Amino acid sequence: MAGRNILITGGAGFIGSHVVRLFVNKYPDYKIICLDKLTYAGNLANLKDLEGRENYKFVKMDICDFEGVYQLMQDERIDGIIHLAAESHVDRSIKDPFTFARTNVMGTLSLLQAAKLYWESLPEGYEGKRFYHISTDEVYGALKMNHPEGIEPPFKTVASSEGHKAYGDDFFYETTKYNPHSPYSASKASSDHFVRAYHDTYGMPTIVTNCSNNYGPYQFPEKLIPLFINNIRHRKPLPVYGKGENVRDWLYVEDHARAIDLIFHEGKIAETYNIGGFNEWKNIDLIKVMIKTVDRILGNPEGHSLDLITYVTDRLGHDARYAIDSTKLQKELGWEPSLQFEEGIEKTVRWYLENQEWMDNVTSGDYLKYYDEMYNL
Ligand code: NAD
Ligand code: TYD
Repeated sequence: MAGRNILITGGAGFIGSHVVRLFVNKYPDYKIICLDKLTYAGNLANLKDLEGRENYKFVKMDICDFEGVYQLMQDERIDGIIHLAAESHVDRSIKDPFTFARTNVMGTLSLLQAAKLYWESLPEGYEGKRFYHISTDEVYGALKMNHPEGIEPPFKTVASSEGHKAYGDDFFYETTKYNPHSPYSASKASSDHFVRAYHDTYGMPTIVTNCSNNYGPYQFPEKLIPLFINNIRHRKPLPVYGKGENVRDWLYVEDHARAIDLIFHEGKIAETYNIGGFNEWKNIDLIKVMIKTVDRILGNPEGHSLDLITYVTDRLGHDARYAIDSTKLQKELGWEPSLQFEEGIEKTVRWYLENQEWMDNVTSGDYLKYYDEMYNL
């Protein structure tokens, strides 16, 4: 597929920046247009190493700006879209659901409609085109914790060399009925439905993937892993919601980006693929691994930062357990996560500790000024 023009939305965010970097480096004959509104979660420092690259262009735009997106698609002759732009933090969605409906639902619809009008105006129509929507496992709701002590997982896992556990005997499959609980997951579920409706109604070549929790470099420090690494470093309290027993299924962000690359190129139109590493962790166990890793790297005695753990009021409607079955992706397209969790968490902790300037810019809000200086925005 030489010479493609690909629009990646939300490319200045956490996962998007890894996807943009992978595509710019791997496909020199593609033109990668990164579209991002640069909300609080978008940070051009995440893409600094790509500035000046010939096959890369950044455009500051809101996906809800239908006219702007439609014009951009025509100007850049876009033939593939990888859509990541979204409001992504559950706690924010509980406080401000409207912003989530606006961006995640109306923004996705605006993008779909712009793609429809542009692609249908071309002589070849939808041939060779692709609208790939990145979604989350949270649309499936929450799984039961019917094995609180954990059982042997039925799947090959990436978890750790010591083996790993599943905390229930059910998983999210591609066929699992949608049952979102938070305003965030409800807005993502709605956007997934619109994407599938554009395939079923207009024949648009769409693909949807639903991925588990990601971790790795460049994640905004409102999310559990970067927030806690930074707090441990600065000896600030670690606010554990409820009893810390909720389970999340963690995947290293570069493994997600590799899956996106594979599915964009080889995934079947109109299909859904679940992406995950069979890597379930109770929050409190994961927090203890982070404490141990940060303390070791900083030269603190073992257990030094355990006193920072602070149990706080639980999140409203806090989903008990997420666990993805990604067998379909592994069997049909041969994707496998590349990292064991121990390696991934070690790399991640080291990255945040070594990139304190990035963290300070984000936590102080200075990264917002960076745009003005770099792009005269
Ligand atoms: P993020 O919050 O780090 O980044 C989102 C990006 O979208 C930011 O750069 C932001 O500026 C941009 N954006 C927000 N509103 C916009 C708008 N109206 N117009 C244009 N740009 C806008 O999010 P993330 O964690 O990188 O997640 C990316 C995508 O992956 C989201 O769709 C999310 O639902 C999905 N996802 C995330 C995870 C995860 O664990 N983080 C897991 C599965 C799926
Ligand atoms: P988060 O990173 O916000 O991802 P998500 O809600 O999309 O799964 O949270 C991961 C888990 O950590 C979730 O169960 C909520 C919990 N959590 C805390 O206990 N304390 C915190 O300060 C945060 C941000 C999350």
